[in-house]
Amino acid sequence: MADNKIPLKFRLYTAKYKTKMFFKSVKSKLIGGKKMEGFNLKGKKAIVFGIANDQSIAWHIAKGLNDAGCQIAVAYQERVEQLVKPLLGMLNNPLAEKCDVVDDVLLTEFFGKVEKEFGKVDFLIHSIAFAKKEHLQGKYYDTDRRGYQVAQEVSSYSLAELTRRVMPIMNDNGSILAMTYYGSEKVAPNYNVMGVAKAALEASVRYLANDTGEKGIRVNAISAGPIKTLAASGIGDFQKMLDYAKEKAPLKRNVDADDVANLAVFLCSDMSKNITGQVIYVDAGYCIMAV
Ligand SMILES: NC(=O)c1ccc[n+]([C@@H]2O[C@H](COP(=O)([O-])OP(=O)(O)OC[C@H]3O[C@@H](n4cnc5c(N)ncnc54)[C@H](O)[C@@H]3O)[C@@H](O)[C@H]2O)c1
Repeated sequence: MADNKIPLKFRLYTAKYKTKMFFKSVKSKLIGGKKMEGFNLKGKKAIVFGIANDQSIAWHIAKGLNDAGCQIAVAYQERVEQLVKPLLGMLNNPLAEKCDVVDDVLLTEFFGKVEKEFGKVDFLIHSIAFAKKEHLQGKYYDTDRRGYQVAQEVSSYSLAELTRRVMPIMNDNGSILAMTYYGSEKVAPNYNVMGVAKAALEASVRYLANDTGEKGIRVNAISAGPIKTLAASGIGDFQKMLDYAKEKAPLKRNVDADDVANLAVFLCSDMSKNITGQVIYVDAGYCIMAV
């Protein structure tokens, strides 16, 4: 898109964001990353799908894996390029390429590039989801056919697609992770078609774990409590979800993306070598409550 076609509001936001990320990057170089005590992923390589900006769960996971010694290949959507590029300086020697899970040409190019540059990889992080905004509010039965298809294709089917593409270049004993939410099991008002897509995603995790198990490759999902991100801002009354989760959870607090990243590093490490096909909660205990 030509610069003059990008709304002024977004251009101003991008300029401010780039400055903020520049200083963050300098600080990160001077102080170094947060050390993940007990987790040594030196020499490991990970593919991360789903970084849109510095709030993304995928970004926190990428940084956590990077700080544990892992090299990262970032697959980002073209529309968020301006927000992803300033983050790359905070990673050690990353590979970064445009990709979209509904575009076979871009997928083939991306995996080809990863194979050429990395050879084999050890981890795949699937931290992506999409549904039309109008389908994340009101009645679930108002979802139209195309809206249902797109939510399933991007948020659920893509895990099988990415697993199939990564298998030929994945080392034995690798780890694949997907992100999910409790709205797959119980009704979360407004979550609607995404809850249905997450149910399919969680079932996929189990089938994929069975498919990949003979190579020692594990597939798990992290079910996170609500976190303010770009994707979350599309869900109707999201602030209410945050407030309610905090009030009802035994720990009386919300979770953040670093909580998810810590679990992701554990699930990539050998410390979790016999955990597969699971949905593991990072929700301050919210899901154990009946009332
Ligand atoms: N934020 C929450 O409250 C929360 C809670 C539980 C689970 N999750 C899940 O975590 C994951 C990450 O979401 P997030 O909250 O970090 O938001 P986010 O907006 O930062 O990340 C969503 C990502 O999906 C990517 N994406 C969308 N369509 C794509 C496509 N066609 N091809 C490739 N990438 C595509 C976007 O570029 C973006 O990077 C999602 O699966 C989401 O459902 C989020």
